[in-house]
Amino acid sequence: MTTARIAVPIAAVGALAAAALLMAQQSVIDTPHNLSASGPSAVRATGEEKVCIFCHTPHSARPISPLWNRDNPANAYTVYTSNALDAIPGQPTGTSKMCLSCHDGTIALGSVVSQDQSIQMAGGITTIPPGSSNLGTDLSDDHPISFPYDASLVATDLKLTDPAALTSEIRLDQNQELQCTACHDAHDNSFGEFLVMSNEGSALCVACHQISTTTVMGHETCAGCHQTHTAPSGPYLLAGDRVRSTCLRCHDGSAPPAKDIATDIQKFNAHDTDSPVDPPNPVPDHATCADCHDPHTMEHGSGTAPNIHPSFGKVPGVNLSGTAIIEAAFEYEVCYRCHADTNVADASWVSRQLTQINTRLEFDPTAVSFHPVATTGRNPDVPSLRPPWTEASIVYCSDCHGSDNSTKIGGNGPDGVHGSFFEPILVARYETTDFTPESRSAYALCYRCHEREGTDGVLRDRTFEHSKHVEDADTPCSVCHDPHGIASAQGRAMNNSHLINFDTTVVSADPVTGLLEFQDLGERAGTCTLMCHGERHDNTSYAR
Ligand code: HEC
Ligand code: HEC
Ligand code: HEC
Ligand code: HEC
Ligand code: HEC
Ligand code: HEC
Ligand code: HEC
Ligand code: HEC
Ligand code: HEC
Ligand code: HEC
Ligand code: HEC
Repeated sequence: MTTARIAVPIAAVGALAAAALLMAQQSVIDTPHNLSASGPSAVRATGEEKVCIFCHTPHSARPISPLWNRDNPANAYTVYTSNALDAIPGQPTGTSKMCLSCHDGTIALGSVVSQDQSIQMAGGITTIPPGSSNLGTDLSDDHPISFPYDASLVATDLKLTDPAALTSEIRLDQNQELQCTACHDAHDNSFGEFLVMSNEGSALCVACHQISTTTVMGHETCAGCHQTHTAPSGPYLLAGDRVRSTCLRCHDGSAPPAKDIATDIQKFNAHDTDSPVDPPNPVPDHATCADCHDPHTMEHGSGTAPNIHPSFGKVPGVNLSGTAIIEAAFEYEVCYRCHADTNVADASWVSRQLTQINTRLEFDPTAVSFHPVATTGRNPDVPSLRPPWTEASIVYCSDCHGSDNSTKIGGNGPDGVHGSFFEPILVARYETTDFTPESRSAYALCYRCHEREGTDGVLRDRTFEHSKHVEDADTPCSVCHDPHGIASAQGRAMNNSHLINFDTTVVSADPVTGLLEFQDLGERAGTCTLMCHGERHDNTSYAR
């Protein structure tokens, strides 16, 4: 029966090598590429018995190997492109055109060169039915094809396997071009989807791409995030229309153990992570998931400040001297990409005497005073610190900036600078409005690391008359303290130690002397000359 059916085709392609011929005839019969009347799928002919005829013919064939029996589709394809692509895919060539003569949906399946009348298909089907097998003429959402995959391409993209070292299942055409047939074999469906080899564990993808699958569950296969054909994103072939929607397919609370990030980024006060998929670098007013987490290299584990979190992987940054680097080593270097010399924030949160929005300068080791983000702090005497924090500690930006439901502050939500109920993306409440009654909750952010009431608590006035100002006069911490630091080019050690940088909407110059200043008089001692809450301070001093 089988032999009879393929007897004609064997003759038809009689010019072809005998071994290959035998393989083709054995394997194609039970696949969706058997379009004859006895083919296995719904897409088949009403009467035509011959299997090979839909693709091959001995006579009147087009002058291309292997005795091709179909017209070439028109060259009107939109080809794949992206900002990261090194290859330059042209209009489809070679065997790709053969596949597209059915799979772009423009030419009737039964239309063959060897006969005038189209072969009649069952159910009135003419071209390939709509659905995933119909790639259309827009190939910008399909894996790039029809370009030379050669030594010079590998020299520009170091993450590609040298084509000379490819596994034997993967074949390029005689022009070294990557065609549909690098991944597919039209005659052999033993691995499914006519693949040339099994793609279990993304084996096919990593045969060419030297991108290791990580051990993070959900990220172990390329297919977790990528779709080879008709990908919703276009560039980068992502399974969602953007990077964010790709990640949120799992990170929206619907697929534990993947943490729910969707809830945080939907908060009013969040990084706007919904950037277009292929943006310039860095984006002026967005930060997408991949800006902080490199999807291919992120891993499990916890970091020790200031070292970069393993969950960031190898992401770019800007270092302490303001130089762009391709692989950040510290968390702050990632933030400096957008919050330092190239700055996305247009204003300081609080109007201060000394204005600075370049966080690199605020936290620089040469700065006048600073919270210890890039190096240990300047003050050896900070009695309020709660264990485990000490004067030798280094803190992450993300110890202050992150989700209000983060485990860092005893919540059960995800950690990370995604979004928070508290502005500007703070892990806990921090009031900056004058005349806020003091409470544990009003300055919860600071009290996370600084004792409020204990023996050395901030309100116990060990170092400064905090209770008088914060409790009695309802003055927020932010009126005197700048939470980041004071840049060396702006402040002076005498006037801006202890993170002093006054809020000028509350504090003004002393009307008599015209001065608005703090003076450091050594350990736990100083004076102020200014106007605040209607009170004139004229060299008013405090001392322990
Ligand atoms: C759905 C289309 C299709 C059908 C049906 C089909 N072939 Fe092919 N065949 C191709 C394509 C495309 C190529 C070129 C592939 C390549 O160069 O890798 C090819 C190439 C060949 C070759 C050349 C050797 C090789 O693998 O490069 C032989 C021999 C062959 N086909 C035999 C057959 C026989 C016999 C049948 C029927 C049993 C058949 N084909 C049915 C599409 C088809
Ligand atoms: C003669 C027309 C024709 C040609 C030429 C052709 N195909 Fe197909 N192909 C089909 C049809 C019809 C189906 C089944 C579509 C359906 O069921 O909706 C199919 C299905 C497929 C599938 C899906 C298989 C599955 O298990 O669902 C893949 C993958 C595929 N073809 C790849 C190729 C590649 C690669 C080439 C070129 C090497 C090619 N095809 C050439 C007609 C063709
Ligand atoms: C880089 C490898 C690669 C190339 C090149 C490639 N494909 Fe695929 N194709 C795949 C994989 C892998 C699948 C299985 C589905 C998936 O993982 O998305 C697939 C699936 C398909 C399907 C089944 C429908 C679907 O979306 O699952 C068709 C049809 C298809 N390919 C046709 C083609 C055609 C036609 C070409 C050339 C224009 C081509 N492929 C080029 C890897 C490739
Ligand atoms: C036959 C080798 C080969 C196989 C197999 C292969 N690729 Fe590719 N892929 C390439 C080459 C070569 C490029 C072009 C790279 C470039 O120019 O930067 C590419 C490009 C891409 C791109 C676009 C990159 C960009 O910069 O826009 C993505 C995404 C991609 N491949 C994903 C995959 C996935 C997922 C698989 C597995 C289904 C896969 N590839 C299998 C060779 C391959
Ligand atoms: C956790 C999701 C995720 C997984 C898993 C993943 N990717 Fe990606 N991939 C992405 C995203 C997102 C981008 C776009 C990157 C960007 O915007 O910077 C991308 C970009 C790419 C690119 C183009 C840029 C580049 O780095 O060269 C290629 C090629 C690629 N991926 C291949 C793969 C392969 C092959 C695998 C499997 C070994 C894989 N990816 C696994 C999410 C993922
Ligand atoms: C297919 C589902 C899936 C997709 C898509 C996905 N993830 Fe995940 N991701 C997970 C799962 C599951 C875990 C938890 C693994 C565990 O806890 O063992 C996880 C863990 C993580 C972690 C924490 C790693 C750690 O242990 O510290 C980060 C960060 C992460 N994903 C980021 C992303 C980003 C960014 C994207 C998009 C580029 C993305 N994920 C896309 C499923 C997914
Ligand atoms: C790729 C650029 C980019 C990176 C990297 C980045 N951010 Fe942002 N960040 C932004 C943008 C843009 C905004 C403005 C809000 C928005 O997204 O619309 C912002 C806003 C913020 C805000 C709120 C400020 C306000 O005025 O609302 C904080 C706090 C913040 N980022 C902290 C961080 C921290 C901490 C890091 C490092 C872990 C970081 N950012 C990394 C781009 C970035
Ligand atoms: C000790 C806690 C703390 C640390 C550490 C910290 N911030 Fe902030 N940050 C704040 C507070 C509080 C505000 C808002 C109030 C203010 O500016 O006085 C703020 C404001 C911001 C803003 C809004 C614009 C501005 O300057 O007012 C950005 C952006 C920002 N921080 C980014 C960062 C980055 C990037 C890092 C690390 C390099 C970092 N922060 C480290 C507490 C902190
Ligand atoms: C994540 C922990 C953490 C948080 C949150 C935090 N601090 Fe600190 N703070 C420290 C550490 C550690 C030091 C010690 C630095 C040193 O020794 O110079 C410090 C030191 C200080 C100093 C003394 C600086 C000097 O040079 O004298 C002041 C003032 C201060 N913090 C105020 C605040 C305020 C106000 C807040 C709330 C916005 C706050 N801190 C939140 C960890 C934190
Ligand atoms: C501005 C930088 C930044 C951006 C943008 C960002 N993240 Fe994060 N993410 C972080 C930080 C910081 C952490 C905490 C890392 C740590 O503590 O180990 C984190 C942690 C995570 C975790 C692990 C949470 C946990 O508790 O284990 C997941 C999952 C995650 N991010 C996914 C995403 C997704 C999805 C997006 C895009 C919607 C995204 N991130 C965007 C900075 C970022
Ligand atoms: C009226 C101005 C003012 C206000 C308001 C203020 N501080 Fe201070 N704070 C100071 C001065 C001045 C010093 C330096 C004391 C010294 O000479 O050592 C200081 C020192 C500190 C120190 C470092 C020494 C220590 O005690 O550990 C911390 C921490 C601190 N303040 C936290 C806070 C917090 C938290 C708030 C809000 C709840 C706050 N301050 C409100 C002026 C102020």
